[in-house]
Amino acid sequence: MMMPVLSIQNLSKSYASGLQALKGVNLEIRKGEIFALLGPNGAGKTTLISIVCGIVTASEGVVIADGHDIVRDYRAARTKIGLVPQELATDTFETVWATVNFSRGLFGRAPDPAHIERVLRDLSLWEKRKDRIMTLSGGMKRRVMIAKALAHEPEILFLDEPTAGVDVELRRDMWALVRGLREKGVTIILTTHYIEEAEEMADRIGVISKGELILVEDKATLMKKLGKKQLTLQLQEPMDAIPAALGQWQLALKANGNELEYSFDTGEDHTEIPALLRRMGELGIAFKDLNTRQSSLEDIFVSLVTTRKGATA
Ligand SMILES: Nc1ncnc2c1ncn2[C@@H]1O[C@H](COP(=O)(O)OP(=O)(O)OP(=O)(O)O)[C@@H](O)[C@H]1O
Ligand SMILES: [Mg+2]
Repeated sequence: MMMPVLSIQNLSKSYASGLQALKGVNLEIRKGEIFALLGPNGAGKTTLISIVCGIVTASEGVVIADGHDIVRDYRAARTKIGLVPQELATDTFETVWATVNFSRGLFGRAPDPAHIERVLRDLSLWEKRKDRIMTLSGGMKRRVMIAKALAHEPEILFLDEPTAGVDVELRRDMWALVRGLREKGVTIILTTHYIEEAEEMADRIGVISKGELILVEDKATLMKKLGKKQLTLQLQEPMDAIPAALGQWQLALKANGNELEYSFDTGEDHTEIPALLRRMGELGIAFKDLNTRQSSLEDIFVSLVTTRKGATA
C-alpha cells in the first residue's frame, strides 16, 4: 500500500475547559487527493487542523505528515504543510508582496520571487502587490491568506472554510485554483459548510460530529450507497390517505395530498416503479405529471448527522 501523505492516529483533544473536542480520530490522507471534512459548528474540524499544523497540542495520539512526526520533528513537518485559517488575521500595514514573501522565509525556504509572482498572479493579486493589506476588501484578504499558505510550496494544504462569505466568482476562482494545485500533486484538505462545494470538489469525504469521525468514504461510493432517488407523482385528485392497496411501496403523501412520493435506492438494478404505476392504474388513481430526483450530498449529510443526534440523545 502507498504510504499516506498524512496519518492521524488515535487523536484526542480535551481543552482546559474540560471540553473534549476530538475523540480518538483515525484518518489517513492519500497523496494528491482532495479530502473534504464536513461537520456542524463545533464538531472539531478546526481543532483537528490546528493540531496537525502545530497550533494546538493534542491530548493523545500521533500525527505523521509526509513521514515526519508533527511533535518530534516539528520543523520538517511544518514545512510540508500550508494552512489557510478560518479566522483572517490580516489587518496589517504590510504590503501584499512583503507579507507573502516573508511567509516563505518563515519556513526557512530560500527567496524565490518568481514563485511569489506566480502565486500572486494565480490569485489575481499581482496588481495589488504594493497595496497595504488593511486597504484590501475581505475577498482579497482571503486571497492573501491563500497566497501566504502557498508561499513555501507546501505538499499538504489545509483550507479551513476557504469560501465562507466570499462571492460566487471568487468561489469559482478558488475551486479552479484548488484543482490546479491538485494537478501539481498538492494534497488538499478542506472544511466547508457548503455541501455543494464538497460535492463538486472532493475525492473523499469525512464527516465529523461531536469530535468523532463518523464516516470516511469516497464521494462517489457515499452518494451511491446512501443516495436515494425519489419519484414524485402529481395527482389529478388530492388524497386524504394512502390506499392500503399501495402499502407495499411505503409511499409518502406530500403537498397537502397532491403528491405521492416513492423513494428507492440508487444502487438497485431494477425498481418497483412499473408495478406501482400498474397498481395505481388498476385503482383508478390518475396523475398529471411525474419526476425523479436524486438525493444530494446535502440530504445524505443531514440524515447522517440527525440520525447521530437521535442515537446519542
Ligand atoms: N481554545 C479553545 N478552548 C476551549 N474550547 C475550545 C477552544 N477552541 C475550540 N473549542 C471548542 O471545541 C469544540 C470544537 O471546536 P472547533 O473550532 O474545532 O469546531 P469546528 O468544527 O471547526 O466548528 P465551526 O464549523 O464552527 O468552525 C467546540 O465546542 C469549541 O467551543
Ligand atoms: Mg472551524
